[in-house]
Amino acid sequence: MSTFQHIKGTFDILPDAYTIGDTRIAASHEWHHVETVLREVMTRHNLEEIRTPMLEPTELVARGVGEHTDIVSKEMFAFERRGTRYVLRPEITAPVTRAFLEHHLEQRGGVQKLFYIGPCFRAEQPQKGRYRQFHQFGVEIIGASDPRTDAETIATMIAVYQAFGLTGARLRINTLGEPEHRAAFRDALVDYLTPYRDELSETSQRRLDTNPLRILDTKVEHERALLRDAPTLLDHVDAEALAHYDAVKQLLSSLGIAFEEDPMLVRGLDYYSHTAFELEHDALGAQSALAGGGRYDGLAPALGHDGPLPACGFAAGMERLFLALDAIDYDYPAPETPRVFFAALGKEAEAWVFKTVHDLRAQGIHAAHDLKGRSLKAQMREANRQDAPYTVIIGGNELADGSAQVKTMATGEQTAVSFEDLADYLSTPPAA
Ligand code: HAM
Repeated sequence: MSTFQHIKGTFDILPDAYTIGDTRIAASHEWHHVETVLREVMTRHNLEEIRTPMLEPTELVARGVGEHTDIVSKEMFAFERRGTRYVLRPEITAPVTRAFLEHHLEQRGGVQKLFYIGPCFRAEQPQKGRYRQFHQFGVEIIGASDPRTDAETIATMIAVYQAFGLTGARLRINTLGEPEHRAAFRDALVDYLTPYRDELSETSQRRLDTNPLRILDTKVEHERALLRDAPTLLDHVDAEALAHYDAVKQLLSSLGIAFEEDPMLVRGLDYYSHTAFELEHDALGAQSALAGGGRYDGLAPALGHDGPLPACGFAAGMERLFLALDAIDYDYPAPETPRVFFAALGKEAEAWVFKTVHDLRAQGIHAAHDLKGRSLKAQMREANRQDAPYTVIIGGNELADGSAQVKTMATGEQTAVSFEDLADYLSTPPAA
């Protein structure tokens, strides 16, 4: 019987980095480092962490993200069990909004500034940078309609990539206005495209009926040419929406954040209004989006909330961040190694080492030993592999003396240390 393999479009995160095809899967300590930097950036932007379940009611995603979006119509991992419909969350904005409403987070006072890091699931065709289980980090700022909220969301997103020294990302922004502006634009777009229906690809023909704005995302060259003369969203938004958009652009400029205005940017989720944006990087290839987001004042009402709830956020793919970091040969800090490795000669020494290693660990010292009962030579090989700066060999003589020779690996120097003083001695690394 053959053993099992991971499910296509998912991957394991291992202690060492490895590759699948030509994609490097970062090591667990590299993930940990990236998450630590992310949390640091989020905290200094005055955001608090929220963790929501990976399982949500299917209806939440269907209503939140939109029935006719690709995510809901084609990409949900959803199932039914005893009359309840569950979905593995494809994104985290609708879940965070659900949690906000369910727990009345507005009662904490002020604006709720939340961030998250966690897995999402979409049944997409896997390729480089596109997975079925991937990881998002993101921000949701709930309770403020001021354009500074939109600019602060974007500034936080940019700060993340700056913290890693990543340059060359392109920010595209647009305004989607209010839902009624979008509806008027949708009608105008359908009127414009309908005479060309037969020239459109099958996907665009379908979208013309279900979700015409998504046609603006087309990569088909003759469709793009057709769209150059199409009505634009900007012609359909009112003065108030334009004023909001102008304010966001001015605020971004005041922070020195460069952006391109893209009147074709609509985003693939239904809940947006006003500001929409995407961050791209050429290092990513076909899946060029590092992150995306926007304002979503209509989401809470769509989920049954009585009255408007202004909100803005972004989400970013962790795997795409790793791809971008690979492109700049990002220098990850080395993983923590044990401070000390104990080798034991004989059963009595093994028992002493076992107890001592656990005593040292209880005192906060990262200590290692061999669990295989191997020869001294093999134990020393293991000590080298684990790269501990100190090694100690314990045999009958050491047990009789109550003292050990602690070897500093970098210099080869040996120091006699009594068993009582071991923890003290090992609590600091050797001088560099
Ligand atoms: P999204 O554009 O669908 O937006 O996803 C955000 C990011 O998640 C993408 O830019 C990409 O980096 C990453 N991503 C999406 N799908 C995959 C995949 N299959 N494999 C790897 N990475 C992927 C949202 O999810 C919105 N919730 C963003 C938002 C937050 N809007 C407001 N607040």
